[in-house]
Amino acid sequence: MHTRLLALLSDALGPAQAANELRWMNRALDSRLSLNDMVARRVRGEPLQYILGTPSLQILLSLPAHYTSGTQPFGPLNLLVRPPVLIPRPETEHWVLRLADSFLPTATVPVSLLDLGTGSGCIPLLLCHLWPPGTVNAHGVDISPHALRLAQDNAELCGIPSRLGLTKNPQNTFTTSSANFLAKDFKDAALSAYPRFDIITSNPPYIPWKEFLELPPSVIDFEDPRALFGGPSGLEFYHAISRLISHKDILNPGAIVALEVGHDQASAVQALMHDTGCFLRTEIWLDPWGKQRTVIARM
Ligand SMILES: C[S@@+](CC[C@H](N)C(=O)[O-])C[C@H]1O[C@@H](n2cnc3c(N)ncnc32)[C@H](O)[C@@H]1O
Repeated sequence: MHTRLLALLSDALGPAQAANELRWMNRALDSRLSLNDMVARRVRGEPLQYILGTPSLQILLSLPAHYTSGTQPFGPLNLLVRPPVLIPRPETEHWVLRLADSFLPTATVPVSLLDLGTGSGCIPLLLCHLWPPGTVNAHGVDISPHALRLAQDNAELCGIPSRLGLTKNPQNTFTTSSANFLAKDFKDAALSAYPRFDIITSNPPYIPWKEFLELPPSVIDFEDPRALFGGPSGLEFYHAISRLISHKDILNPGAIVALEVGHDQASAVQALMHDTGCFLRTEIWLDPWGKQRTVIARM
């Protein structure tokens, strides 16, 4: 029986990944799920995180059964994931951990952080978790109501309060708002209530339209196209970010901008950051697979 299921999974995922996933599915078996069903869903391309599910978290957060579909480790955090919000990727986790290590804010002057296209909230929530209490006030914007709801649920799960709900000091905080950062009036419409930022982070949609056909079903069928595609060249959102940064009153002196990029976009995005004239230096960080993955610009 397992041999047949392993063969089915191997055709879809390759033998090593299939063996691992079958072992994890076996461990997650309960009255709701049969191994046959789990393998069939996985072969159809459903992300493993949704198949394994999180019944214990549903109980913990008093969520209805359909409301949370799984979890994904992200550094020391275990974040909720549910379609159609992008599942946080290991390459994102890698640079956020490195950013957390390379910059240590202090409670004397807490930093303000803006995360553009926050999705599950993974980037600001990990930084809020890792940096000392009272050192960062983070704000995430997204155009997707599903993403904003998930980011707020994750903040609750991680014990990171919103600035408004702050009850005791010192604490790191995370707020969210709905906004379109491609819009020409984004800064005035969405950020006028906020002070200047010390850190801007973003993992924006960056897949060029022409790469649509190369995406696996686990991405095309389960993740919001708005989380994926960055226009014809994939660079549309980086142009918007560079226009935002060029506003004189958006960044504090000494600010850092950290942008995740597609596998062949680092030089183009580095040039865009350089051309804003705002930064003293820029650098490119590699991901664990040796790909140029993050552009860092420092004032
Ligand atoms: C690649 S996902 C990244 C999500 C999360 N930051 C992460 O790293 O997993 C990009 C996010 O940008 C959001 N987004 C797309 N277009 C947007 C826009 N015009 N304005 C604001 N957010 C947008 C999507 O909804 C999605 O959550």
